[in-house]
Amino acid sequence: LASTEFDLSKVQEGMQVVIKWRGKPLFVRYRTPKEIKEAQDVKLTDLKDPQLDSDRVKKGKEQFLILVGSCTHLGCVPTFGAGDYGGWFCPCHGSHYDTSGRIRKGPAPKNLAVPDFQFLSDTKVKIG
Ligand code: FES
Repeated sequence: LASTEFDLSKVQEGMQVVIKWRGKPLFVRYRTPKEIKEAQDVKLTDLKDPQLDSDRVKKGKEQFLILVGSCTHLGCVPTFGAGDYGGWFCPCHGSHYDTSGRIRKGPAPKNLAVPDFQFLSDTKVKIG
């Protein structure tokens, strides 16, 4: 299946850009220092699907979070910047995701998926 390239200079700090990839929305979020710290400070024992923030981003590029924008409950598209944890909120049945895209509350069983990706340069990323 096709990979895609994305120019990260199109995303402003504190925002996300949604692109289409393999028929699904992909969230590219440029996290603020506060959002990164919140994601890093969470204890694994507080997570339903335990995963470190550092395993979901690239070292030295922690500001960029790339996720498949499909709720792991039944596939709705979660809303950016909403919910109790400042990440995303899925309006379909009320799943709350944190600023690492990890499920924190609600019926979704898993974290928002991180696709394979790599940096080609400081501002260019290849996804897939
Ligand atoms: Fe997101 Fe059900 S599809 S909570």
